[in-house]
Amino acid sequence: MESVLPEHIPRHVAIIMDGNGRWATQRHLPRGEGHRQGTENLRRIIRAATEFGIQILTLYAFSTENWGRPRREVRLLMRIVEMVIDRELDELDGEGVQIRHIGELDGIAPALQRKVKTACERTKNNTRLIVNVAFNYGGRDEIVHAVRRIVADGVPAEAVTEELISSYLYTSGLPDPDLIIRTSGEMRISNFLIWQGSYSEYYATETYWPDFDRASLLEAMHDYSRRKRRFGKTPEQAAAEPIVDEDDDEEA
Ligand code: IPE
Ligand code: IPE
Ligand code: MG
Repeated sequence: MESVLPEHIPRHVAIIMDGNGRWATQRHLPRGEGHRQGTENLRRIIRAATEFGIQILTLYAFSTENWGRPRREVRLLMRIVEMVIDRELDELDGEGVQIRHIGELDGIAPALQRKVKTACERTKNNTRLIVNVAFNYGGRDEIVHAVRRIVADGVPAEAVTEELISSYLYTSGLPDPDLIIRTSGEMRISNFLIWQGSYSEYYATETYWPDFDRASLLEAMHDYSRRKRRFGKTPEQAAAEPIVDEDDDEEA
C-alpha cells in the first residue's frame, strides 16, 4: 500500500457510496446495519479528504430512484441522514467543512428539510473542504430543473451555452469532478453527475462502502494520478502540455 501522496491531487472527488446492503447481508445482518456502518465511515473519509488536500468532496447519499425501495428502508435512510446531521454537525463545522446539498428538497419531510438547510447555513463560510451531499439527487432530474429555470428566466435560445447550463445546475460555481469513485464493484453511473462527469476519471473498487477507508481513498488517488487526461487531444499533444489537473495553476 502506497502511503505517500500522489503527484496529482484531484481537486474534486465524487463518490457513489454503494454496497451497504451487501456488506450487511454478507454478515447475516439486516440491510439497515449496513447503512449505519456506512455513516460511521463518513467521518474518516471526510477527514482523509481534508488531509489529502482535496477541495471538494461530493457524496451520493440518496438517489431519485432510491424512493422505489421498500418504504421501511426509505424511512430508515431518512432517519439515518437526520441522525448524521445531529451527530456530526458540530464537529464538521469545527473542522472547517462547508456542507452543501445537491438535489431536490421538495418531497423530503419538512423537519429534515429544515435540518439540511440549517447545516448548510451554519457552515456556509467554512473554506477548508466543501462537502456536497447528493440527497434526493438525480442527474436527469437536475437537468430538467435547470431547463425549467432557464425557460422561466426567459433566456433566449442563442444565449444557451454549456456554461449557462452548468450555472443552472446544483453544482453551479464548482469545478466538475476530476475523479468519480464507485464502491462495491458496480460499473454504472446510476444517474450521478451525468453532465458534470462528462470528462471525469472513473475508478471502481470491489470494496463495499462501509469498508472503504483512508487507504482505499489513497489508492484511488494514486490510480488517478497515473491517468492521462487528454480531453479529446492526441497523446502527443497531451504529453506536450500536461493537463492532468485542468485548472491547476502549478501545471500551467
Ligand atoms: C448504498 O448501498 C446506499 C444507498 C443507495 C442509499 P446500497 O443500499 O445500494 O447497498 P447494496 O447495493 O444493496 O449492497
Ligand atoms: C446509487 O446506488 C445511489 C447511491 C449510492 C445513493 P444504488 O445502489 O441505488 O444504484 P443501482 O440502483 O444499483 O444502480
Ligand atoms: Mg446499491
